[in-house]
Amino acid sequence: MSRVILVTGANAGIGYELVKLLAEKGNKVYLGARNPKSGREAAEKIAAEGFKDVHFIQIDVTDLSTIEATRDHIANADGHLDVLVNNAGIGELHRPQTAPTLDLAVLRTTTETNLFGLIQTTTTLLPLIRKSSNGVILNVTSDMASNTIQAKPNAIMNQAAAYNISKAAANAYTIALARELKDVEKTDIKVNTVTPGYTSTKLNGFGVGGKSVKAGAEILLPWALLEKDGPTCLFIAASGKESAW
Ligand SMILES: NC(=O)c1ccc[n+]([C@@H]2O[C@H](COP(=O)([O-])OP(=O)(O)OC[C@H]3O[C@@H](n4cnc5c(N)ncnc54)[C@H](OP(=O)(O)O)[C@@H]3O)[C@@H](O)[C@H]2O)c1
Repeated sequence: MSRVILVTGANAGIGYELVKLLAEKGNKVYLGARNPKSGREAAEKIAAEGFKDVHFIQIDVTDLSTIEATRDHIANADGHLDVLVNNAGIGELHRPQTAPTLDLAVLRTTTETNLFGLIQTTTTLLPLIRKSSNGVILNVTSDMASNTIQAKPNAIMNQAAAYNISKAAANAYTIALARELKDVEKTDIKVNTVTPGYTSTKLNGFGVGGKSVKAGAEILLPWALLEKDGPTCLFIAASGKESAW
């Protein structure tokens, strides 16, 4: 059955590849991008490969007016949203962000997108997800969001404190939302967070040794397409197994 899906930050990187994989499976996919030119070009490129049900939509997760316009567009066109993939993210890894001298400007910038943007997008679109018969929210996270992993001696990338804090806080929101929707509201909306693992993208300066964006997107794919009775409130590692929070 075709689903109506929105992927944020999908003009490039893992999000772009995920849109392609979702479209290949016959779904209607909104390719969200903050930059209209690159978003439109990305959607046209996928359409040119034969997947016509891919639609560019302008959404900057730090700009409420674009999030609301996205909600209104999907409400008018589809009446509901089956799957929201909160993929948009920034690293600011070119800026120093070790904990002892953490610059709050860097923390604010990363948090604005990776935490506040994710929450605002989710709360604004949730009424449309509630109208789905099989709602799914997939938050794209990182190993660097795991406090358990980061607390180990000599943890990798501990120095990216702003990014790690913003992603760990987004994980806390994932837990809060998943539990509320299941335990209190008794809905079957599934809310999970999954890491694609280290992938060479613009976010990390196309770091050497990372997996391809297609391989990263393939890890996310099944978690976007969960069945109605699928699991909720999980943090999934790139191995496909549960990660420590
Ligand atoms: N790469 C990795 O190793 C890795 C590992 C774990 C998790 N992740 C996560 O994977 C997700 C995708 O990142 P990526 O690696 O594919 O990096 P990427 O290629 O840099 O893609 C990030 C996407 O997010 C968009 N974006 C940034 N700020 C935005 C905003 N305010 N509103 C809307 N879109 C915005 C970017 O748009 P522009 O092109 O306009 O900048 C871009 O499309 C992120 O959440 C990241 O934290 C990545």
